[in-house]
Amino acid sequence: MKEKLGVLVHGAGWVSTQHIKAFMNNPHTRVVAISSRKLESARKRAEEAGLKDVKLYDNLDKALENPEVDIVSVCTPQHVHAENTIAAAKAGKHIVIEKPIGNSLEEIRNMRDAVRKAKVKTVVSFVLRWNPLFQILKRIIADGMLGNLYYVEADYQSAIAAWWSGYEDARKKSTGVSAFLVGGCHAIDAVRWFAEKQEYKAANPVEVFAYSGGLRKGRIRQWNYYTQRWEDMPPLEYDDLEVALVKFENGVIGKVSVNFGGVQPYTFPIEIFGDEGTVKDNRIWSTRFQGQRGWIEIPTILPDSAEVTHHPFQAQMDHFVDCILQDRESHCNLEDAIKTHEIAFAALECYKTGKPVRLPLLT
Ligand SMILES: NC(=O)c1ccc[n+]([C@@H]2O[C@H](COP(=O)([O-])OP(=O)(O)OC[C@H]3O[C@@H](n4cnc5c(N)ncnc54)[C@H](OP(=O)(O)O)[C@@H]3O)[C@@H](O)[C@H]2O)c1
Repeated sequence: MKEKLGVLVHGAGWVSTQHIKAFMNNPHTRVVAISSRKLESARKRAEEAGLKDVKLYDNLDKALENPEVDIVSVCTPQHVHAENTIAAAKAGKHIVIEKPIGNSLEEIRNMRDAVRKAKVKTVVSFVLRWNPLFQILKRIIADGMLGNLYYVEADYQSAIAAWWSGYEDARKKSTGVSAFLVGGCHAIDAVRWFAEKQEYKAANPVEVFAYSGGLRKGRIRQWNYYTQRWEDMPPLEYDDLEVALVKFENGVIGKVSVNFGGVQPYTFPIEIFGDEGTVKDNRIWSTRFQGQRGWIEIPTILPDSAEVTHHPFQAQMDHFVDCILQDRESHCNLEDAIKTHEIAFAALECYKTGKPVRLPLLT
């Protein structure tokens, strides 16, 4: 075993800054290469991070030939995640895959098959699983403070717009596909995560029904939360609002929405109901707290920002490096993340047929 695992970060944009930082801070990893569409972007990221002894590439296949690379972080736009992941798996590298993992069931099936064949480890960046509030809530649930769960809600409410460097690809139907895929998959994953009582496990969805709507699709005049102004921007090519109901194998019902249309700051409300207690964001009520007269508020870091610097990428990458070193699978590996994405694809199917969709979709 090498002294340190070598990391290649591919796609030198916004989120890559945090992947680079996290792998630089992990005592068992070293960022040995950065690749991107433009060499200049890779160089900029390296310079900003103060990385001197790092190889730069504008071609993933060439970068994957570097024998120093053990882990690849796929930070490109979502429409190239599948081809990047398959190439990395074929090269025998462990892979961090940014969400969403892929743009179609076919892409996702091919990714799964390539990863299974290569027997490499994966983690998908459902980074909120490492958010401190999420971790506290999972512990509260696992400790039985809410009793038996029966209903979970989570909503991704973010005015995705031209302030985001990834907007041009994400807003298009051909490359972004849907609001659930682009951003709402975080909320879908949260519902799966909280609908399961075991601490390091997410619930299995068995049926989905969904509606889509909203007012932003095709509209050029849009609210820019960062400038606090209405501005002309290239429009979204899909509905900005999606709402889905999900039945889980364990009997829990979930409700999840993605809403890009709200004129408001980023919010990510969570509600969890059990027969012994309730959680609303960071407030808890439980039969365990005899004499409780009001909601008990947990002062912690909330999932209340779209900023990548706010997201717990360090904890996610530390977890993944542990998984590699200890030869165990992540609870958030590709196989698990497929179950989250299947809900987004089932919602799209539902808009066509008007009928509930049974899961799993991939066999
Ligand atoms: N987990 C989270 O919470 C979180 C947060 C933010 C973003 N993300 C996800 O991370 C991914 C990237 O988002 P981002 O915000 O970092 O977007 P971004 O700023 O646009 O960065 C993507 C970078 O990839 C490069 N690129 C584009 N097309 C490429 C291609 N075909 N081959 C190689 N490189 C290519 C571009 O660099 P060049 O300059 O070289 O063209 C671009 O800077 C998206 O899937 C997004 O949803 C996740």
